[in-house]
Amino acid sequence: MTSVVDLDNQGSSKAFDKNWSQRPETHYNHWVKGAPKNQIQLAFRSHWRVFQELMAGMDAKTCLEVGAGRGSISSYFADHGFDCTLLDSSAVIMDVAAKIFEKNGHPAKCMVGNALDLPFASGSFDVVVSIGLLEHFEDIALPMREMDRILRPGGLFLGYVVPENPGNIQKYFRGFNSFLGLMAGFFKKSTKGAAAKEDVFRSDFKSGKYAEVIRTLNGSDIFVTGLYPVPMISHSPDFPFSLLPAPLEWCLTRIFEMVLWVRKILTGRNGWMCSEKMGQAFLVSYKKSA
Ligand SMILES: C[S@@+](CC[C@H](N)C(=O)[O-])C[C@H]1O[C@@H](n2cnc3c(N)ncnc32)[C@H](O)[C@@H]1O
Repeated sequence: MTSVVDLDNQGSSKAFDKNWSQRPETHYNHWVKGAPKNQIQLAFRSHWRVFQELMAGMDAKTCLEVGAGRGSISSYFADHGFDCTLLDSSAVIMDVAAKIFEKNGHPAKCMVGNALDLPFASGSFDVVVSIGLLEHFEDIALPMREMDRILRPGGLFLGYVVPENPGNIQKYFRGFNSFLGLMAGFFKKSTKGAAAKEDVFRSDFKSGKYAEVIRTLNGSDIFVTGLYPVPMISHSPDFPFSLLPAPLEWCLTRIFEMVLWVRKILTGRNGWMCSEKMGQAFLVSYKKSA
């Protein structure tokens, strides 16, 4: 298994908390009502559209996001009338999320807690979602079992995973991003005030390993797909991803939208879905057996 060095390999919660305390990106809000203005807003919009397809026909009103960070995906759920709960081990980021939700007029409960010991009764939620959480656990069965416990029978689990996958689409843009990094350092603009990022543990587990756990949970309608078939173009593409100047972000977003549109025409399905090898991430989803 390839991973960066981190002693806390069950969530990397300490490293995340430190990053949230020190990084300017902590305050970026990635939900947007209208057209996405940057790559990361486009990414969350695209995740949401895939999730909507998977929730079609479901009677779902309550949603819990575990490892919620700023709650960018929860903002979409809240904006579509879901009763949202956000949980994260970092008090710093839960504070930020609460302010973002208040500013956007989205009601939500923001709680500090541990994915391995969720403070909810069994069967509490219609949908349980995590974005970029599970890959930070060496033993993925631990958070997955706990998330399954609090899902109601017939409820939907959505796990978006960003594995260590050096062969994905990003590999073709590494040189260009390094060049942007040099430029950012040279002009000392976009990196102003930014502390170095703490390394976090990230596994290279493929979706099959997650599906194995789901089978032990008796999940039905298991669905797996690669996601995110476009690169992140940035002087600092690791989480939390730093944005380029706004006009550049706007242009890239329009280009990527076109790519997704062409992909949809060519493949006949949501253009955000792709092979697991190519995608920056993958989705594992299932319904809890009734
Ligand atoms: C990569 S970030 C993703 C944040 C957010 N979901 C997003 O999409 O921007 C992972 C998050 O998981 C949180 N986390 C790590 N370990 C955790 C644990 N054991 N319980 C709850 N949250 C945890 C971190 O604090 C961090 O906010």
